Amino acid sequence: MANRAEASNPSLSGKVALVTGAARGIGVEISRDLAALGAHVIVAARDGQKAEEVAARLREGGGKASALKLDVTREEDRKAAYEAIEAAHGKLDILINNAGILLDSPDGGTPAPRQPSQALPSVLRETFEVNFFAPIFLTQLLLPLLKRSDAPRVVNVASIRGSLAHLSDPASPVYPVRALGYDTSKAALNAFTILIAEELRGTPIKINAIHPGWVRTEMGGGQAPVSVEDGARTAVQYATLGADGPTGGFFFLDERLPW
Ligand SMILES: NC(=O)c1ccc[n+]([C@@H]2O[C@H](COP(=O)([O-])OP(=O)(O)OC[C@H]3O[C@@H](n4cnc5c(N)ncnc54)[C@H](OP(=O)(O)O)[C@@H]3O)[C@@H](O)[C@H]2O)c1
Repeated sequence: MANRAEASNPSLSGKVALVTGAARGIGVEISRDLAALGAHVIVAARDGQKAEEVAARLREGGGKASALKLDVTREEDRKAAYEAIEAAHGKLDILINNAGILLDSPDGGTPAPRQPSQALPSVLRETFEVNFFAPIFLTQLLLPLLKRSDAPRVVNVASIRGSLAHLSDPASPVYPVRALGYDTSKAALNAFTILIAEELRGTPIKINAIHPGWVRTEMGGGQAPVSVEDGARTAVQYATLGADGPTGGFFFLDERLPW
């Protein structure tokens, strides 16, 4: 297995991790890193066959992994996920809310999204279903399993595009492009991170939002400067925090980002 993650992180032997949107992009690399550290990784994707292909590759590499069909927007899939994890493991140590969509561009993925005044209701609603409501509902549902862990960690894969400080700063690299659905859904996810972490402060659970960098995936595009392997690093760092680590923060690697 890869030893990039092993170099700076503790063993996750005996830990169970769920990664959503794990059949491609950053989710695959997060899964690979967590498996390399010794966790049993539940590779979750809305296409169960693709999830199984990723899990099989992790097992072939010596890791522990299983596949789960999980469309994060489907309540029945989320409930089935709870049942499957409860039956197989009885607990959950790490939840990575990684699944996300960016639909604002008129033809998908181009750097020329509609102006906020032209944003389509369907795009806004679908984006919030995946990027905001789904991680909330999944976290709420899995909280009882997370509370059975001695060191539960939740990582919400947000984006610097959800930072109100950056969106309103003409000097910020995210300022020139306005993607109303994506940006506001990630800002709302950040607010959820603050509020749920505050509720659980004083318990062993740590919940943080992260920005993975601008990463070369289908969403990030070919111009993005960060490899998909490096794009997994921040999520893995905050999934493996020690007891003295932060909760309720927003990070890119060691840097604390402004809300
Ligand atoms: N790439 C960047 O530069 C960048 C920057 C900041 C933040 N992020 C965030 O990083 C996360 C991963 O993005 P990525 O770059 O790896 O993008 P990606 O390659 O487009 O992958 C997105 C993943 O989300 C999954 N997904 C979408 N809707 C889903 C649903 N309803 N249920 C379950 N899974 C669903 C996709 O599954 P399918 O394969 O089934 O479509 C895919 O696996 C996202 O939250 C994104 O917002 C990315």
